[in-house]
Amino acid sequence: MHCTKRITDDMIWVGADDRRLALFEGVYGVPDGVSYNSYLILDEQTILFDTVDKAVAHNFFDNVAYGLGGRKLDYLVISHMEPDHAATIEDIALRYPEAKIVCNVKIRDMLARFFPTDLSDRLHIVKEGDTLSTGRHEFTFVMAPMVHWPEVMMTYDKTDKILFSADAFGSFGALNGRIFADEVDFMAEYLDEARRYYTNIVGKYGTQVQAVLRKAAGLEINYVCPLHSFVWRRDFDGFLAKYLQWSSYTPEVKGVLIAYASVYGHTENAANILAAKLSDRGVRVKMYDTSVTPSSYIVSDAFKYSHLVFAATTYNAGVFITMEQLLSDITHHNLQNRKVALIENGSWAPVSGKLMRDMLEGLKGTEFIGEKVTVKSSLAESQLAELDALADAIAADISAGE
Ligand code: FEO
Repeated sequence: MHCTKRITDDMIWVGADDRRLALFEGVYGVPDGVSYNSYLILDEQTILFDTVDKAVAHNFFDNVAYGLGGRKLDYLVISHMEPDHAATIEDIALRYPEAKIVCNVKIRDMLARFFPTDLSDRLHIVKEGDTLSTGRHEFTFVMAPMVHWPEVMMTYDKTDKILFSADAFGSFGALNGRIFADEVDFMAEYLDEARRYYTNIVGKYGTQVQAVLRKAAGLEINYVCPLHSFVWRRDFDGFLAKYLQWSSYTPEVKGVLIAYASVYGHTENAANILAAKLSDRGVRVKMYDTSVTPSSYIVSDAFKYSHLVFAATTYNAGVFITMEQLLSDITHHNLQNRKVALIENGSWAPVSGKLMRDMLEGLKGTEFIGEKVTVKSSLAESQLAELDALADAIAADISAGE
């Protein structure tokens, strides 16, 4: 049975929520589920924007069939070939044999690699600025390479001023019966998940996101239709402002994220004492235990906070496993322009501080502040002054930046 949502007089959402998925892309927990969005416009000709993940294929097929109401499908536009949107392209092509597949040349090449069915005679290849009319609607295509894969393109409906934004402006989290962002308190209830989605999925490609945002700035937009999460029809500026911050690696909060990896609690204790001293100085602090919280949440807050403290024990003459994973994740996501302080621990040969610095110092705009604190087994009373000095340095730096 179909489950669709109306967006405009002639456009409906035909996607689906997935609340069974444990790990999006096999790595990112989605405790609140995720939506796979697909949009169907019934013009003189019918046009479908993207498909869905195979997990919700049957809901999607029901929705498309209901939406078409017996009409044929004339066009399928493919924005992105990642299988969370593309897995059911071949099924749609086979179910609707008259549908032309609108895509660019990079998508064409990926189609041939992903699917055994030869779709080459069905393709309608477009490039930047090309237009396509379905009757009342006229669409144009905006290439968006690396947001999030190289083939990505957005579509702009010149008629109703709709931007089909591919992965951009999406979020983790199921729609739960709603479709518009203004049906929820998005900035209060969904922003953290939208940030976690952006930073982990697209965060590495800030330069490319900025390029697309510049292109989109010239468009009059009434609706933004992403491939995940809510459709925007009003109050979009606040969310757009967040994208401008995230993609330029500008912190949202003057404050400190402390992430620690502690085997028996002594490194954690040093991190807690530093947090207390920072709080005494009026500094906002957020803490994570890297052995408890998955990296995606900490990466997200590393994009949010201006100052980062990493505290880790030495392990196998390296950095403790979960901290090494976190720092690897942060470096792979290209985080920039952060102030960083380090605490290391090691009972006989502490090296984690140096190794953490080695991992992070290649990130553009990274600045290390304060003296590295070295704990040997457990923090000595005499070392409290070192943590005071580190807290002073961080607090002074935050004050100076305000
Ligand atoms: Fe939602 Fe890059 O796919």
